[in-house]
Amino acid sequence: MQEKLQQLKTEALTALNSIKDKLQLEELETKLLGRKGGQLTEMLKGLKDLSEDAKRQVGQLANEVKKSVEEAIANKKKEFVQQEMSGLLEKEYIDITQPALPAKNLGHLHPNTIIQNDLEDLFTSMGFAVIDGPELESDYYNFTALNIPENHPARDMQDTFYIKGHSDWLMRTQTSPVQVRAMQKHGVPLRVIVPGKCYRNEATDPRHEHTFYQLEGLVVDKDINFSHLKGVLEAVAKHLYGPKTQIRLLPKFYPFVEPGVRGEVTCFLCEGKGCRVCKQTGWLEIFGAGMVHPSVLKEGGVDPNVYQGFAFGFGLTRLVMLKYGIEDIRLLESGNMKFLEQF
Ligand code: PHE
Repeated sequence: MQEKLQQLKTEALTALNSIKDKLQLEELETKLLGRKGGQLTEMLKGLKDLSEDAKRQVGQLANEVKKSVEEAIANKKKEFVQQEMSGLLEKEYIDITQPALPAKNLGHLHPNTIIQNDLEDLFTSMGFAVIDGPELESDYYNFTALNIPENHPARDMQDTFYIKGHSDWLMRTQTSPVQVRAMQKHGVPLRVIVPGKCYRNEATDPRHEHTFYQLEGLVVDKDINFSHLKGVLEAVAKHLYGPKTQIRLLPKFYPFVEPGVRGEVTCFLCEGKGCRVCKQTGWLEIFGAGMVHPSVLKEGGVDPNVYQGFAFGFGLTRLVMLKYGIEDIRLLESGNMKFLEQF
């Protein structure tokens, strides 16, 4: 038995030396030490049939053999793990001195975002703060606070999406609800713009979409008058379409301003002569505006006898369409890569 043990040990250690990978090692381990049928295991099990004396002698040797075989296997395992690790490191090696390769397929800004960023830069340079408000709005802020009471016909032109079970909630149809929110939250004097998404329940076509962007502006202070409004709008028009651009303001009714205007700029393409873009009129309508109605100031907690204000709203989406010559508004929200990759 002792001889057999010695022999097994020598055989095991030689076998271990010629082992090349983890799989072979596992095989050998089972062959020697497997709980069922392992050569060494079986031999150790045989010990119990020996006499007490023999047990003591052989037992010690058997344990030694087992220990050294186990150790040898463990060392081999360690070796393989180390090999694997350094292999990984080699594979993951990067040359940090190599200049960066040009990036491929990087995303880019949506045309809406490009125009919005551009206007935010312009307005912040004129001292406006950029703020936002909720797209899921209350009936109060979207309509009532803006001097559009229930059953007012102005509501008909701005049908939107309502929330089941919350008759007071709706998707805002304009950025104007942030006028009253801003006055209530920040007080006066106030000089803010509000770019953001708006919604309307439209039968969509190339000129109408259920989701679009506006950019609202609001200035409230003492001694604010109509020429301040005109000055700001002129600055925006010239920024967008060049220094020769002119604006004209025509009367238009919005319940939350008095007087109210629709603002047009000379067509950037034909410079006022008349073309396809301006439908031969020479002018493009790009905003609504006016002096803030006293009852809107009151809703905002502002005393109309002390403060005045003006407000304007640009169709941001319309500006984008004009700038890039986009003829179908639905492309903007389509997620269509062929369209988007052009910008
Ligand atoms: N909210 C108006 C619209 O959606 C635009 C507007 C804003 C008009 C501010 C006047 C003042 O048409």
